[in-house]
Amino acid sequence: MSIAKEPFGSMPDGMPVDIYTLTNTHGLQTRITTYGGAVVSLLVPDRNGKLDDVALGFEMLAEYSEKSPYFGCIAGRYANRIAKGKFTLDGVTYTLTQNEGDNHLHGGAKGFDKVVWTAQEKSDTDGVGLVLTYLSEDGEEGYPGNLAAQVTYTLMDDDELRIDYTATTDKATTDKATIVNLTNHTYFNLADGGAGDILGHELMIDADTFTPVDSTQIPTGELRPVASTPMDFRQMTAIGARIGQDDEQLRLGLGYDHNWALNKSDDALTLAARLQEPTTGRVMEVYTTEPGIQFYSGNFLDGTLTGKGGKVYHYRHGLCLETQHFPDSPNHPHFPSTVLRPGETYQTTTIYRFATI
Ligand code: GLA
Repeated sequence: MSIAKEPFGSMPDGMPVDIYTLTNTHGLQTRITTYGGAVVSLLVPDRNGKLDDVALGFEMLAEYSEKSPYFGCIAGRYANRIAKGKFTLDGVTYTLTQNEGDNHLHGGAKGFDKVVWTAQEKSDTDGVGLVLTYLSEDGEEGYPGNLAAQVTYTLMDDDELRIDYTATTDKATTDKATIVNLTNHTYFNLADGGAGDILGHELMIDADTFTPVDSTQIPTGELRPVASTPMDFRQMTAIGARIGQDDEQLRLGLGYDHNWALNKSDDALTLAARLQEPTTGRVMEVYTTEPGIQFYSGNFLDGTLTGKGGKVYHYRHGLCLETQHFPDSPNHPHFPSTVLRPGETYQTTTIYRFATI
């Protein structure tokens, strides 16, 4: 296993940005940049052992900072949406940046996807990794409290990309409770890394219910059974099988862009989803301690972005499986809580495990 560091350019203020290459003994390889903590590439073998890049992304730092639709990044402080950018905590109403219509999306105008993280290499017999840290100050994008975030990526020798997230809100300096919801926003295409669409990929999501959305993609608060709807992925189903159906939720999401409530009663690390691509035999299993997963079918990709190797990212050429707490949780008291208080530690783990069939 190996880990190597190279420069990836610098920010307008001169701050250097690096890119790290992690490789395991089977040839799996990922490149991760300190800009937004983004997974830039991910090489995994097909059923014949042929390595291909299965993540969408760009070659240049400037493309990430100027036009990335959250390719590969860490999303935070609050991944996904908060209605009208408002929530109330301990009797105080906070207003966050409204960067998607009236709503707050993925941490605001300069979320965790657009900051430069501090990196430290780590290596042991199980894997090679990168510990990324970032201190988000009290008031950043409207959030209360200093938040010290740490995201550890480990490329395991048993072919997993493991992500451990922790965060604390600093008792000594602000003594303020806050909210936090971190995820990774990699767009996957297990067939060809985004040259073609993802409609032939087959997906299983271990969820009996999902959170339906309104016309601004904010959950209505309902937990609706997936049974007899196009949201039912309890059995492995091709993504394209029902995506074109005349269905209210598919219309509101412009396709799949919803949160599924995983079948679990605690924060154990369990299988949430399984994605497989029949032509290459590549399989990706997603394990998480989180209660939810956002399955986004790349509905906003429209052929205007050209990525690595000249691939043009057309409509639905990549998909995201974003493990998370439910969107807009601070405004839905019956959803699992995203509140973090001074003295507590936010801690979640998600694993993307690769195999072939
Ligand atoms: C998430 C959202 C989508 C979209 C993408 C980024 O998955 O749910 O609606 O904003 O991020 O384009």
